[in-house]
Amino acid sequence: MQRKRLLTGDRPTGRLHLGHYVGSIANRLKLQSQYDCFFLIADLHMLTTRPAKEDIEAISENARQMVLDYLSCGIDPQQSVIFLQSAVHETYELNLFFEMLVTVPRLQRLPSLKDMKDSANLAEMSFGLLGYPVLQSADILLPRAHIVPVGKDNEAHVELTREIARRFNNLYGEVFPLPDVLIGDVPTLVGTDGSAKMSKSLDNTIMLSDDEKTVTRRVMGMYTDPNRVRADIPGTVEGNPVFTYHDVFNPDKAEVEELKTRYRAGTVGDVEVKQKLAAAINAFLDPIRERRAVFEARGGFVDEVIYEGTLRMRDEARATLVEAKKAMGLTGVWNRISRKAEDARKKREKRDSLS
Ligand code: TRP
Repeated sequence: MQRKRLLTGDRPTGRLHLGHYVGSIANRLKLQSQYDCFFLIADLHMLTTRPAKEDIEAISENARQMVLDYLSCGIDPQQSVIFLQSAVHETYELNLFFEMLVTVPRLQRLPSLKDMKDSANLAEMSFGLLGYPVLQSADILLPRAHIVPVGKDNEAHVELTREIARRFNNLYGEVFPLPDVLIGDVPTLVGTDGSAKMSKSLDNTIMLSDDEKTVTRRVMGMYTDPNRVRADIPGTVEGNPVFTYHDVFNPDKAEVEELKTRYRAGTVGDVEVKQKLAAAINAFLDPIRERRAVFEARGGFVDEVIYEGTLRMRDEARATLVEAKKAMGLTGVWNRISRKAEDARKKREKRDSLS
């Protein structure tokens, strides 16, 4: 039996952070040996908010850094396909077909789009940004993926993908599976500043490639219980980002429980809690950093991974597009016209040669 397929990806805005890891990378690692995996570098999606020439010029280096992060985390390019979205032309074609299967109000109701418009400081939404989740549906259904591990902010887009797949299948026949979303254990990781989400634009991140000193500095500067002005005042653990991170990244659960108890009682200082957190995050990142150094030293390796993956994805994409166009009847339209045209030309040539 054919193995089930997984697709997910990220916009190439540079290096990845801890939020990406817990939101989606961890699930990719867990599933990569079970599913045929496709990881896309979503550069076309990046264009929806950043279409400037400088942004486009930065894609290759940003993609390289992002894929280095993938590989450093343990994504295995022998098993999984890592590819560049803009170099798979069938994406644009399938996107257009899907645009007919979704209404404008359906898209306008998605809060994620308004969030993206606001965080990019755009006064109005472009047609392309409104179509962001439709393009994402094309990504997911191009390799006919069954499962999509993403962060919470993308859940509604996968739901839309299911609607589009259902609509397509109803209109034209069964071509696409209805993909399931898989949300990470930590759907949205808070930022180091305590704001709702870790995000590069908010400068509240810890990057997977940050060195030990940077991580320690970031952790020591983290937002914590603001009412706790002295170490002997009882503190609040719930919703305190320092403890949220402890829960996620510190494997020593006994230590975490002890710190929580002492924090609530006012018998531990923030400094000690943060130092222990920095140590835990650094221990978590150490093997990732080591692998990164190895891959970085192999010049051109990452480009080769993207190149080979894109070629493999193109084969997949071509096969799906053939199926989709056949099901829609578009192949038939062109076949009938070209057959007639060829017949007509032959007849004319014959006539011309006789006269
Ligand atoms: N929307 C994702 C993000 O927030 C990127 C993305 C584009 C994606 N196409 C996808 C994720 C397909 C999963 C599946 O950056």
